[in-house]
Amino acid sequence: MRTDYEARGLNLACNHSEWIRLLFCYGSNFPIRGKYYIGNIYSVIMSPKNTWGKYIQKRLESQKEKAHFRSLPRFDSLQPGYLLAGDNRYLNLCANDYLGLAADPSSHEEGKVLAEVLPSGAGASRLVTGNLAIHEELEKILADWKKTEAALVFPSGYQTNLGVISALAGKGDSVFSDKLNHASIIDGCRLSGAALHRYRHNDMNDLQSLLSSKRGRKKLIITDGVFSMDGDIAPLPEIIDLARHYGAMVFIDDAHASGVLGPNGAGTLSHYGLEWDKDIVVMGTMSKAIGCQGGFVCTTNEIREYLINFCRSFIYSTGISPWMAAMAHFNICRIRSESQLLAQFRSAVSVLRGELNQRGVPVDDLPTPIIPIVLGESRRALQCAGELLQQNIIAAAIRPPTVPDGTARIRISLSAAHQADDLKKAAEFLAEIIESNDSI
Ligand SMILES: Cc1ncc(COP(=O)(O)O)c(C=O)c1O
Repeated sequence: MRTDYEARGLNLACNHSEWIRLLFCYGSNFPIRGKYYIGNIYSVIMSPKNTWGKYIQKRLESQKEKAHFRSLPRFDSLQPGYLLAGDNRYLNLCANDYLGLAADPSSHEEGKVLAEVLPSGAGASRLVTGNLAIHEELEKILADWKKTEAALVFPSGYQTNLGVISALAGKGDSVFSDKLNHASIIDGCRLSGAALHRYRHNDMNDLQSLLSSKRGRKKLIITDGVFSMDGDIAPLPEIIDLARHYGAMVFIDDAHASGVLGPNGAGTLSHYGLEWDKDIVVMGTMSKAIGCQGGFVCTTNEIREYLINFCRSFIYSTGISPWMAAMAHFNICRIRSESQLLAQFRSAVSVLRGELNQRGVPVDDLPTPIIPIVLGESRRALQCAGELLQQNIIAAAIRPPTVPDGTARIRISLSAAHQADDLKKAAEFLAEIIESNDSI
């Protein structure tokens, strides 16, 4: 009889009448074992029928009440720095395509040639038959660019953070993570099962006090190189010093620094003139300045081998598309050899930051592509984005939970493809909108 109930448990979860009959007919013999049954009994007693529908509806309604509801905007096409929809051409101040390579004509031409010789799909995970020469060529160029021993490529940056962090750290370890680190880092930390200690953003005193007071078999410090919603840069020299002092490994998420910081876009370490060493792991994504898709981690040969053996998001996922890997390889070669790409990017950054400051919208003087204009309430950010849209300018209103409550913002991201005149106009509109909306 017991086996029978167990077998039927799942199907009965939402069938009230049968559950209630079982509950009352079998009395104390009813096999309540562990959380699963207790959860079901709770749902029978407490929930009306259609539990799922009500739950989903309630959550969506609450998002709408808080002005946090999201939907997908749709466009017809992408041009470097601009978006097309119907008859409109919008200045795109939202993309992470920092060097304008995602729709660049010469990369596009190369893509056509590559499509003749490479498959669109790897067909299997890298460990089975999905590892092609182009994957390893891409890893070689990434390791060379980041000045590390080795690299490993993943289908996305999110998957990279999730898998690498949870493979490196585990139960009994301590992870020290900046409070403004990207969601994929937070998810990787949670999945790892390690004790998670979040330090105040870029606050080295807080990091030191946590490192000195929290125990852990192994310690891992994790920071974004460039913070995705604030555009500021992690104080890597201090972080690395602390890591050495407390015997910790440093994990840098260089998603927003790869391709834009440092002399040839090599990222945050090179921005500071720091050398990589074996206790530093650098991850990045090919979906931003590289203009493609996929994630990577740059590290030692030994950690690469370890990840191939233990990193579940790598092992149990099909290898990145060989065609996409070749495109990323091509674009990285371009970033390293065509110095005008970085020069144009830097010029766009200084034009917009300078124009905003001149017009009374204070922004930091940083070499990064991300400029946050913090407006406070979500409604205010949405209104500002809506008014920019009327001027054919698209800038994202970023709201909680992506950013902390009360810090909703317009997040501008720049591209080498933006024209100075368009950026000046955007700064002008933005300053006017902010001034006229001060009372919202
Ligand atoms: C800091 C950071 N890390 C990781 C990721 C994930 O990268 P991907 O888009 O390749 O999944 C992102 C993407 O937004 C990011 O901003």
